[in-house]
Amino acid sequence: MNVLIIGAGGREYSIGLALQKDENVDKIYFAPGNGATDELGENLEISDFNELADFVEANAVELTIVGPEAPLVEGIVDVFEKRDLAIFGPSAQAAQLEGSKIFMKNFLARHNVPTAKYIETDSLEDAYKFINTLEAPIVVKADGLCGGKGVIIAQSHDEAKKAAGEMLSGNSFGDAGTSIVVEEFLDGYELSVFAICDGKDYVVLPAAQDHKRLLNNDEGPNTGGMGAYAPTPLINDEIYRKLNERVIEPTLKGMESEGMPFTGVLFIGVMVVKGEPIILEYNVRFGDPECEEIMPLLKSPASELFYKAATGNLKNAKIEFYDKYAVGVVMASKDYPYKSTAPAEIIVDDIYHDELNENAHISYAGVSRGDDGKLYATGGRVLVCVGVGDSIKEAQERAYMLVGQVHYAGKQCRTDIAYQAL
Ligand code: AMP
Ligand code: GLY
Repeated sequence: MNVLIIGAGGREYSIGLALQKDENVDKIYFAPGNGATDELGENLEISDFNELADFVEANAVELTIVGPEAPLVEGIVDVFEKRDLAIFGPSAQAAQLEGSKIFMKNFLARHNVPTAKYIETDSLEDAYKFINTLEAPIVVKADGLCGGKGVIIAQSHDEAKKAAGEMLSGNSFGDAGTSIVVEEFLDGYELSVFAICDGKDYVVLPAAQDHKRLLNNDEGPNTGGMGAYAPTPLINDEIYRKLNERVIEPTLKGMESEGMPFTGVLFIGVMVVKGEPIILEYNVRFGDPECEEIMPLLKSPASELFYKAATGNLKNAKIEFYDKYAVGVVMASKDYPYKSTAPAEIIVDDIYHDELNENAHISYAGVSRGDDGKLYATGGRVLVCVGVGDSIKEAQERAYMLVGQVHYAGKQCRTDIAYQAL
């Protein structure tokens, strides 16, 4: 089959790599793709949803996979489904699970899914009152999408009140902050759990752990993610069982009963507090960089997983994973995450080591192809070096061996990805 992937990041590149290995897949298209996805397939300069659907019809594309949240929230799935085209992702209505924190929090409360104590409000007075009932640190979040930057972890009551005031006055996040969520701080460790859903049934993927801070030892500012690994030993059968029974099943049933069955990736941001999984947030797409580590662990054909989910046929699907580990190290540009950096040519050494060639690869993200045909680092997160192995240690060593073969001016990366598991 021919497949279209919507998006431009390392996440979409890694989905493309998994599809490239899949015998059932003929041609792969990316819209828009990046400077390296043209090696896996063809990049399209189309962004209008109806024009994309026209392309899909004209080019016998049997499956479209949506990577990022923005087109989902904007309703790409609704446009495709109206035209009877198979597309993997939730409808605009269902995508509110990510698009609006308040929608998500109220949904979790309606369906008794465990989450931090919270209020949503547009009143500063109510925010102050609730803040006074909590112990510091206190979490203040803007509603709406603000690129993962709408969360303040305030270390004192005063700081929490100040953050609430700034968000509500529209000073910090514009319209995304006209309503806010104030919630209790959860003290535990964080996991990324992904369930592939077809509206009723689901497949849980190997759980990952992301590294959101810029610097080693989880210091420095928050980023989109500086590396991840999977599966993480910080989860066990008991936590998986609790997640299935208390979180995923009530969510799928709840979404269905409220008339917006959930299809696509349910990305569950979990905080494990004293052995209990508590939901921090939902996203309605793969995590980036988590996707880059999970895709190489998928043993079943990727097209089968995504096509069955998109068409409501996961029930009897046997989706298998390799009994291996993957570690992904993000290589970012010099000034990430503060500002953009001038383009820098990327050079990857010829790798003559068979072991490395067979067990490590690059997922390209913020890269562009120059007129000279060379690849340039042009984005904040430039690429992810992924190592696969029989242990986390082995996967980590391979990932960092590959990092050593990649060169561009100003490259930066963490040197401790997966440390929590070692
Ligand atoms: P969010 O966008 O809601 O996922 O928040 C971004 C990050 O802030 C999360 O990945 C957590 O690391 C942290 N965070 C958010 N809410 C809480 C909370 N209630 N307790 C502790 N940490 C939190
Ligand atoms: N890596 C976290 C995210 O994609 O939101």
